[in-house]
Amino acid sequence: MTDPHMILTAASQARVYGALKGGNSAKDALPGDRDAVERLRQLAPSLGEAVAANRRFALKAAEWLAGPDCDIDQILDLGSGTLDITDPLHRAVHAARPGARVVYVDNDPQVAAHGRAMTTFTGSPLAMVEADARRPQEVLLGVRETQQIDLERPVALFMAALVHFWSPDDDPVGVIAAYLEALADGSYLVLSHACGDRMSPDQLDKLVKAYTEAVGPIYPRTAPQIADLLGRVDLVEPGLAEVSEWWPDPSETGYPHDDVGQAVFLGAIGKVRSRT
Ligand SMILES: C[S@@+](CC[C@H](N)C(=O)[O-])C[C@H]1O[C@@H](n2cnc3c(N)ncnc32)[C@H](O)[C@@H]1O
Repeated sequence: MTDPHMILTAASQARVYGALKGGNSAKDALPGDRDAVERLRQLAPSLGEAVAANRRFALKAAEWLAGPDCDIDQILDLGSGTLDITDPLHRAVHAARPGARVVYVDNDPQVAAHGRAMTTFTGSPLAMVEADARRPQEVLLGVRETQQIDLERPVALFMAALVHFWSPDDDPVGVIAAYLEALADGSYLVLSHACGDRMSPDQLDKLVKAYTEAVGPIYPRTAPQIADLLGRVDLVEPGLAEVSEWWPDPSETGYPHDDVGQAVFLGAIGKVRSRT
């Protein structure tokens, strides 16, 4: 059983992400999360902005996929994070397509408990599955049991800000390929991932060390390494790009491309290639 003291003192990936993102989810941060966030912000002041841009990318991608261009009515969101009442993925999906089905997956028991509470009582076609996304067969079994998503029909599979928590030993390439293999033709993959290419090696080392000590292991990758994760998909324009370059926010100036020291996430949307 999880030690209750640990729950209150240890930082969690989901709460630290929420605190960096700001807004409503920042209020859930516990002292351990706040200490972690302060340390990370000192090392990379742009981190909060990068996290907010990543969230915006996920929400816009969900809205676009559920809209008339793609007509997707089933979303599987792996590593959902805490379902923030102000920006849950299903709200973006339902704005474009009321009645679309959304299944969330997370392996953090607190995220899952909160997600079950949020999804059970809405009366919408939503579900929360508590599972480790590195085990595709278990996840897909759990998804089938919800009876919300028909895996014989196209699905948009979200892996936003998730895979950088997976070490090379977790075989992220093989895990993603297993999901793509299980999806019906016409499905999409949405992936975003922390990238250290805009930082000096020293800054990146310090940031990774601080996150690992405060929260747990993290594995930012280079752009070519992230491209290698994507597998059997045809990329939608602009391809694998900084998340702020997808649906740019006119109120944001963005970072000049020669600016070093920025924390960034790269994002990609790909249509899964048919097996034939
Ligand atoms: C940084 S949050 C990302 C939230 C959301 N996807 C987004 O991009 O806005 C990452 C989430 O992934 C979850 N997570 C990490 N490793 C996981 C795994 N192996 N299986 C399922 N969930 C995982 C964490 O618990 C956390 O809630």
